[in-house]
Amino acid sequence: MDFWSILRGRRSVRAFRPDPISHVQIESLIEAAGWAPSPHGRQPWRFVVITTPEAKERLASAMGSEWRQQLALDGQDEATITARFQRSHARIVEAPALIIACLYLEELDRYPDPQRQAAETTMAIQSLGCAVQNILLTAHAQGFDAGWMCAPLFCQDRVRAALNLAETLHPHALIPLGYAARDPVRRPRRSLSELIVNWE
Ligand SMILES: Cc1cc2nc3c(=O)[nH]c(=O)nc-3n(C[C@H](O)[C@H](O)[C@H](O)COP(=O)(O)O)c2cc1C
Repeated sequence: MDFWSILRGRRSVRAFRPDPISHVQIESLIEAAGWAPSPHGRQPWRFVVITTPEAKERLASAMGSEWRQQLALDGQDEATITARFQRSHARIVEAPALIIACLYLEELDRYPDPQRQAAETTMAIQSLGCAVQNILLTAHAQGFDAGWMCAPLFCQDRVRAALNLAETLHPHALIPLGYAARDPVRRPRRSLSELIVNWE
């Protein structure tokens, strides 16, 4: 595939066939992540790989119980909460493999003022997005698929507890991996004239 086919062909996949993804395929994704740009070249991200049914279940249940509470807080009724929980739970446990992208801030620069410290953290988050995009594009280039779930960001403590992760790891994105069960519907893209707001 040429570069533009990879870029345009990547899609967020939310339902996978049960066919497994190999260790070698997963390692190639993490290697691709490592080539992303990052502040000071510090690579402020670490990755957790999950392939066993037990770990998937532990993670899905831990995140699901917090999500149920959050949906109740939003005023959603019990039937809707249960349906949404079941869909999300299935998405996690039925994916052949999962990667959790975590922010790791320990090796970044330290500033005496909160404003610059916040900018440093923002840079790290920006580069985590670059690392995840490398993962998504590499999966597509290699003929399989991936998605992006933001759920860990909303329940970082639960994810840490379920997977026994250090406090220094901040789970940000859950990336399910596998082969698409069907072609997903793509969202249309904005035109260039909408994206470029000024060009002098
Ligand atoms: C930061 C971020 C968070 C996202 N979170 C979710 C999510 O929680 N669930 C989901 O189904 N898709 C999620 N997505 C995927 C977007 O919905 C998807 O990228 C968008 O609809 C465009 O579709 P495409 O990726 O197929 O081009 C997320 C994407 C990003 C960049």
